[in-house]
Amino acid sequence: MSLNEYGINLTTDTAMQAEMLGDHLPPDSSMDDLLAALRAAAEPTRLRILALASHGELTVSELVRTLGQSQPRISRHLKLLTEAGLLVRHREGSWAFHRLADDGPGAEVARHLNALLPQSDNRDGILAQDRERLTDVKTARAEKAEAYFRDNAERWDQLRSLHVDDAKVENAIGKLLPATGIKNLLDLGTGTGRMLEVFSSRARRGTGIDLSHEMLTVARDKLEKAGCANCQVRQGDLYQLPFGSGDFDAITIHQVLHFLNEPDRAIAEAARVLAPGGFLLIADFAPHGLESLREDHEHRRLGFDGDEIKSFFRRNRLTLKDTISLAGDPLTVVLWMAEKPQTDTTP
Ligand SMILES: C[S@@+](CC[C@H](N)C(=O)[O-])C[C@H]1O[C@@H](n2cnc3c(N)ncnc32)[C@H](O)[C@@H]1O
Repeated sequence: MSLNEYGINLTTDTAMQAEMLGDHLPPDSSMDDLLAALRAAAEPTRLRILALASHGELTVSELVRTLGQSQPRISRHLKLLTEAGLLVRHREGSWAFHRLADDGPGAEVARHLNALLPQSDNRDGILAQDRERLTDVKTARAEKAEAYFRDNAERWDQLRSLHVDDAKVENAIGKLLPATGIKNLLDLGTGTGRMLEVFSSRARRGTGIDLSHEMLTVARDKLEKAGCANCQVRQGDLYQLPFGSGDFDAITIHQVLHFLNEPDRAIAEAARVLAPGGFLLIADFAPHGLESLREDHEHRRLGFDGDEIKSFFRRNRLTLKDTISLAGDPLTVVLWMAEKPQTDTTP
C-alpha cells in the first residue's frame, strides 16, 4: 500500500479510479491533473477556502481566524489545494499568501466551482458567514494600519526616508513620468502629499487620495506652503475611488502597495480611472526579509517581485513600459511604469 504524506491510500484510490474508468484509457497527464484538482476540492473546508480565495489573496492566519480551525489543519488544506494546482502560494518571511491559480486544470476547476457556488448571501449561510468573518479579520488589520498612520502623520516624512534615499527615488520617478502635458495627476495613498509636491508642476491638476485624515492635514499644510495651488487632497478609499472611468492620465502609487490587504484590487481600481494612453507608476520595495517592518510599521507585504507586479498589470490590461531598480541596503526600491493601451484589444 502506498500512502502519501497526508496518509491517503494512493494505491486503493488509483485502483478505484482505474476500475471506474474501465482501465481502458491511455495515460493522460492533463486528465490526471484534472482528477487531482477535483479530488482536492471535494471537501467542505477546502471548498470554503476556494470561495474565500475568489475575493483575493489570503494568509494562513486570516483563514485560521475566519474558519475557526487550527493552524495545522488549515495549512494541510492549503497544501493540498496548492499541490493540486487550484491555489498558488507565495512565501514571504514567516507569512505565506495564497490566491487562486491563474492557469492550468486546477485553476479551471477552481474557477468553475466558484461559479457554481451560491453567490447570494441568503443562499448559503456558511459561505456568507465566512465572507463576513474574513471581512472582519481584514478590517481589523486595516484599522491597525490606519492607526499607525494616524499616530505617525506628523513624523511620516522622517520615517519615509529611513530606509531609502528619497532624492534618488524621486529623481528616477521624474525620468519616467511625462515631463509636461499631464492633464490630471492622481496620487493614491498620498500621505503627506510628497508626490504631488514634487510632480504637480508637470500637471494641470493634481489630486491626492488618502484614508487618513491626519496625513491629509499635514499634506494640505505642506502643499499650501509649497505653493501647489493646482492640487487638492481628499479623504477617500483607493479601493473605491470617487471618480469616473478614465478621469486621469497619470497615476502614482508610491510606497502604498505593501500596506494593502488587496494590492491587486487597488491596481484594478487605478486602471479603471486611468484614461486610455495614461500612465500608472508604482514605487515599492523589491522582495526583502525585514520581518520587523510588519511588527513595527504595519507592512503586510515584504516587497513585490517583478513577476507579481506584471501579473497585476496583465490582469488589469495594462502594459509594462519600464522598470527601474534602485538598489539599497537593506531595501531596494523598484519603479514599475505601465500604460493603459489606447484601444483595448483583449477579448
Ligand atoms: C506609506 S504611506 C505613503 C504615503 C506617500 N505615498 C509617500 O510616499 O509618502 C501609505 C499611505 O497610504 C494610505 N492608505 C492606506 N490604505 C489606504 C486606502 N485603502 N485608501 C487610501 N489610502 C490608503 C495611508 O493612510 C498612508 O498615508
